[in-house]
Amino acid sequence: MGTHRSSTFVYIRRFSYHSRRPPMLSQILLAVPAAYSVLLVSWHLLRRHLLAKHSGVRDLPHLQSRRPDKKISGTAVICGGSIAGLLTARVCHDHFERVVIVEAEAWVASEEGRKIDGWNQKMARSRVVQYTSLHACQSFLYTGLKSLFPNLEDECRRSDIRVLESNPRFNSSGVLFRIPFSSYKFKLPKTMYLSRSGFETFLRRLVLDKDSYPNIELVTGTVTDVLPDPADHSRLSTVVVRMDSGEQKFPASLVADCTGPARAGLKWLDRHGYDASGTLPAGKLPLSALKISYDQKLRYSSMMFRVNQAWLDRIPLPADIPNTGAIYTFLEDGVKQGRVFFALTRPDGNTFVAFVGQHETSRSMPTNLAELKVYVEGLNTVQPIPGWVFKVIDMLEEVNNSSTSVAILKVAPTTYVRYHQATNLPSNWVALGDSVMTLNPLFAEGCTKAFKGALALHNVLRAISVNTLPPNFSTKFFEEHFDKTDLMWQNTRLMDYALPTTVPLPGESLSSGSSLRWYISQLQHLAIDDEHAALVLYNSAAGLASPIDAFHPNLVAKILWTALVAKVF
Ligand SMILES: Cc1cc2nc3c(=O)[nH]c(=O)nc-3n(C[C@H](O)[C@H](O)[C@H](O)COP(=O)(O)OP(=O)(O)OC[C@H]3O[C@@H](n4cnc5c(N)ncnc54)[C@H](O)[C@@H]3O)c2cc1C
Ligand SMILES: *[C@@H]1O[C@H](CO)[C@@H](O)[C@H](O)[C@H]1NC(C)=O
Ligand SMILES: *[C@@H]1O[C@H](CO)[C@@H](O)[C@H](O)[C@H]1NC(C)=O
Ligand SMILES: *[C@@H]1O[C@H](CO)[C@@H](O)[C@H](O)[C@H]1NC(C)=O
Ligand SMILES: *[C@@H]1O[C@H](CO)[C@@H](O)[C@H](O)[C@H]1NC(C)=O
Repeated sequence: MGTHRSSTFVYIRRFSYHSRRPPMLSQILLAVPAAYSVLLVSWHLLRRHLLAKHSGVRDLPHLQSRRPDKKISGTAVICGGSIAGLLTARVCHDHFERVVIVEAEAWVASEEGRKIDGWNQKMARSRVVQYTSLHACQSFLYTGLKSLFPNLEDECRRSDIRVLESNPRFNSSGVLFRIPFSSYKFKLPKTMYLSRSGFETFLRRLVLDKDSYPNIELVTGTVTDVLPDPADHSRLSTVVVRMDSGEQKFPASLVADCTGPARAGLKWLDRHGYDASGTLPAGKLPLSALKISYDQKLRYSSMMFRVNQAWLDRIPLPADIPNTGAIYTFLEDGVKQGRVFFALTRPDGNTFVAFVGQHETSRSMPTNLAELKVYVEGLNTVQPIPGWVFKVIDMLEEVNNSSTSVAILKVAPTTYVRYHQATNLPSNWVALGDSVMTLNPLFAEGCTKAFKGALALHNVLRAISVNTLPPNFSTKFFEEHFDKTDLMWQNTRLMDYALPTTVPLPGESLSSGSSLRWYISQLQHLAIDDEHAALVLYNSAAGLASPIDAFHPNLVAKILWTALVAKVF
């Protein structure tokens, strides 16, 4: 106490020594830029730290194999063989002697489930809601996949997946967001343009390639249970699978729940007494309280057509818009109308997608081209939607045939199983992908989140030098998973609470986060003319931004100034 007080005293004395006279204006004028530079430097340092912690960009170069003779003994059993399951299997192949993926839907184990022309698949997934709906891939995910699969770009070409500069051509109510960013010498990063079916099929083809990953095996069956180790209840020893041939038990060194929205793992853990009892430490929760949801009341309408080159060559696009990748993206300004998102894209193979997403309003979702045209004509615009967009919709009639698919969906509520707050999980238990968290799909982050989960798993496995998992493995994994993914949940919730129709989390109101939302909408308006603001929005949409990019001191100053000027005049 004493030293503390005296140092304060010294500080005051020094200060008074220097300021016997009031500071001169010149001193103040010098101090402002100095303080501002300190602020800027601190901002950049913080950004570096946060980018590393939350995005994992710096972990990407480390996604290489551990020494094959140093692998963890036994088998990693992955429950669920869709996006999260396949990425988890790929990461586990580097660290475990053996990997078994158990997938319930039988046909995906056949050649059809990994065909080169995945966009041409004749079967659809009955358990994957998104399978025939619009799919977008963030640049961060594409970059990450390149670290996992060194031959990615060649393989994309083989599967007719378009790898292009990521340019969503966002038009906010008809006003184009600035892009590219000439004053930042910013080179647009690449991404993949492909369908959800194409993506899963492609990933399965890569991961089940026996030459590259000889120790990964795909088994058809439904995981019905996991069993604690009879000698040590703090870990699991077995995964129980119902197969055509009857029930089979798989010994497991690691169990990964990648069952998606089924979230089957929660039931298995509860059944075997992994719930917490007694008084819990602060911030910890019983198993039954881990899951929370709010309903963003989102509707999706995706029409997928099969087109040919002759048709593509005839569509009347302006000279600066290529007939591939993102062709037109319209975001309706304002939330009262349901924040409509309308897009025309040309992803993999011969597919062409017309899409509408909206939060609940009185407007009904278009189910065919005629309705789509009327719907788009009714959107609120600042500058009118260009005529060529309607011509393209008209021309889609020419290619509408029995290969066209129309998916109209009511998207399920957004759900989070907060495993990082559990206290009593088995030490060799992890969960990734939608089994932990779902997000508003309009932000196209679901598969990025599955990837970040796999990256978190890799980071935690990489730190283990022995050939068994430590007792705190699961806890460490969910901490790392939290760091990599929690912000995605916070952001999706922040944005969804803007919609008056959203049903918030129990105990919360839609006004939660309103000042931050005000700030972001100002940023969006600024982005129409301001390259810095546009860059931040671009990077956020691509999954490349740090959580403080939007709060660069310059941007904060511009936004507050604009608001002040608007208030005064
Ligand atoms: C309408 C919509 C649009 C979306 N758009 C995008 C987008 O544009 N971009 C994006 O990145 N993400 C998007 N997403 C999110 C994306 O679909 C998911 O994040 C992604 O599919 C998650 O993959 P997953 O492997 O975790 O779960 P899922 O894909 O749901 O897979 C779960 C798997 O587990 C299997 N399974 C379940 N239970 C068992 C069991 N007991 N035993 C064995 N197997 C089991 C299932 O058969 C399935 O194969 C969208 C989602 C929706 C609903
Ligand atoms: C977006 O808005 C601009 C300006 O209103 C317009 O010229 C353009 O055609 C629109 N669409 C695209 C894809 O750029
Ligand atoms: C539908 O039209 C497309 C484009 O013209 C064509 O490639 C496809 O084979 C057609 N499908 C059927 C079933 O006719
Ligand atoms: C395609 O044509 C059929 C038959 O005319 C029609 O019923 C269907 O609604 C059309 N599909 C779309 C997406 O417009
Ligand atoms: C986890 O356990 C290891 C030893 O097994 C120990 O070194 C480490 O500090 C522990 N970490 C935490 C977060 O408890």
